Amino acid sequence: MGILVTGAAGFIGFHLVRSLIDKGFDVVGIDNINDYYDVRLKYARLEKCGINEQEIGNDGTLVQSSTFERYRFAKIDITELSKLSKLFEQEKIDKVINLAAQAGVRYSLENPHAYVQSNVAGFVNLLECCRQYGIKHFVYASSSSIYGMNNKVPFSETDPVEHPVSIYAATKKSNELMAHTYSHLYQLPTTGLRFFTVYGPWGRPDMAPMLFASAMTSGKPIKVFNNGEMERDFTYIADIVEGITKVLDNSPTASETRPFYRLFNIGNSQPIKLMDFISTMESALGIKADLKMLPMQNGDVKRTWADTSTLEETVDYKPSTPLETGVREFVKWYISFYGKKQ
Ligand SMILES: NC(=O)c1ccc[n+]([C@@H]2O[C@H](COP(=O)([O-])OP(=O)(O)OC[C@H]3O[C@@H](n4cnc5c(N)ncnc54)[C@H](O)[C@@H]3O)[C@@H](O)[C@H]2O)c1
Repeated sequence: MGILVTGAAGFIGFHLVRSLIDKGFDVVGIDNINDYYDVRLKYARLEKCGINEQEIGNDGTLVQSSTFERYRFAKIDITELSKLSKLFEQEKIDKVINLAAQAGVRYSLENPHAYVQSNVAGFVNLLECCRQYGIKHFVYASSSSIYGMNNKVPFSETDPVEHPVSIYAATKKSNELMAHTYSHLYQLPTTGLRFFTVYGPWGRPDMAPMLFASAMTSGKPIKVFNNGEMERDFTYIADIVEGITKVLDNSPTASETRPFYRLFNIGNSQPIKLMDFISTMESALGIKADLKMLPMQNGDVKRTWADTSTLEETVDYKPSTPLETGVREFVKWYISFYGKKQ
């Protein structure tokens, strides 16, 4: 079976590609390798998948992995419909997992256009290709941030999500609406996954674990927003990848009330206090953090907490990585990749 993974040079995409290859799928990865964060990390992830930076061109040609026979990669921006269509036309793609997006809540206050381009215009291009080429299942990344001003916890898929507090969240909500439309109009099976703060090796430099590790290992203070009064449903990358692959195998069917459309929370269902997360990092790194207490940031939410019962019932999803284990694995990778001092 042929699977297209978009955002394949990204944090989650990299881990997912490795897992799909291990499971015996034929995988095509695409990514525009943008410089929102250090591109060296993106190329290093690709290298780990056997994709050599020197061989990657700008014309959308696929590069064969030197390590994995079943993996090929092309530098393609999902906003470029012609390159995307050509790929769908030439390749035998059965299912698509869309992880390509402009991520990050805070940056969306600075550069809203980047979000609309990739997350809205790019997303419609993918839906159009899926419709035109009869894709059997379109799985896409949504986000816990769409719960916005929701105060009820844990967050459930049936909770109202009409009050996003960032453009990032608004674009993710728009993805869910557009996917619903395509499921209804064209019977395209779609599944949206609302990810809750994913962490682990090869993580994203703009997220708390990497920001903390980077500051702590170089003797700088770490920024602690809302004076530490925050909680996040930190979810280990391996649990996320396991959940995505289970969902991929389980396409939604139509019911009387719903088209071929599904949405799941995918988190750990155990919110962690930010200060507890910091102590876990301190123990794993063996470094005491210098805390710089700051007020709440615009666009941020105080607490996230996933109710994952629907996903558990549907695909037997069971996140199993304790925070201490996940942080230890993250720190091990971080030190081997960056060293103790940057
Ligand atoms: N990591 C998390 O905690 C988290 C939480 C909620 C939602 N998500 C969502 O999950 C997905 C993957 O997140 P991630 O943490 O791996 O982020 P990431 O930034 O590491 O990966 C996204 C990848 O998409 C690529 N990309 C961006 N715009 C593109 C475009 N127009 N065309 C092609 N490629 C493009 C980037 O170069 C990047 O490599 C994103 O959609 C993100 O919004 C992640």
